[in-house]
Amino acid sequence: MLLGVNIDHVATLRNARGGKDPNVAAAAMICEMAGADGITTHLREDRRHIKDKDVNELKKLLKTRLNLEMAVTDEMQEIALKLRPENCCLVPEKREELTTEGGLDVLSQQEKITKFVKPLKDAGIIVSLFIDPDIRQIDAAKKTGAPFIELHTGRFSEAFGTENEEVEFLKLKDAAAYAQSLGLKVNAGHGLTYENVHRMKEIPGVVELNIGHNIIAKSVFVGLSAAVKEMKELIK
Ligand code: PXP
Repeated sequence: MLLGVNIDHVATLRNARGGKDPNVAAAAMICEMAGADGITTHLREDRRHIKDKDVNELKKLLKTRLNLEMAVTDEMQEIALKLRPENCCLVPEKREELTTEGGLDVLSQQEKITKFVKPLKDAGIIVSLFIDPDIRQIDAAKKTGAPFIELHTGRFSEAFGTENEEVEFLKLKDAAAYAQSLGLKVNAGHGLTYENVHRMKEIPGVVELNIGHNIIAKSVFVGLSAAVKEMKELIK
């Protein structure tokens, strides 16, 4: 299984002070050196974390792949066609949400999404649709011509460790098998953690996991001790 590291929250931290630190491109390089198979960023309509200049810089610097998560809007399509990331993941977007809350409703906008996917595919971008593990959405996704879906693991992650874990896990497992039977390739992501990620290995054929928040959160603790020691050393 491949790992796409979502570095949006490195940008969240940078934007808290409006300066350059922590440097998003440098974070991406470190992820790649540590074995990430791709770097994922969500260019949101309100640019609350990743900004246009970040994606432009990443596209130039990355040695792996840039996976651009974006809403189905004319603005984003134009950006993607100019930028030419290796991958695009189409996500629903509401301005007021804290993070992407549900999967894309492909079923109710099948024609619009089919039209949206075509020029991206023609430009050589591998498109995936971020959807809930729902058979109707998978059928609709197949009809758009997108080669990949990314299954939304948010519900499973919330249910992890509770009595609903198995129900939510089986939804993902069955959805992945169904999508694969239609010839779709399957990624997964959202809310995955160091504690729950092992369950993804029980789903055959998942190509890539996209994980962000929990990796960036962990990195604070993995690095905090060294950072404090270095500052102590400097002021000794
Ligand atoms: N996949 C998609 C489509 C997402 O929108 C996100 C969040 O931006 C992720 C994966 C990563 O989620 P998390 O930050 O919870 O790991």
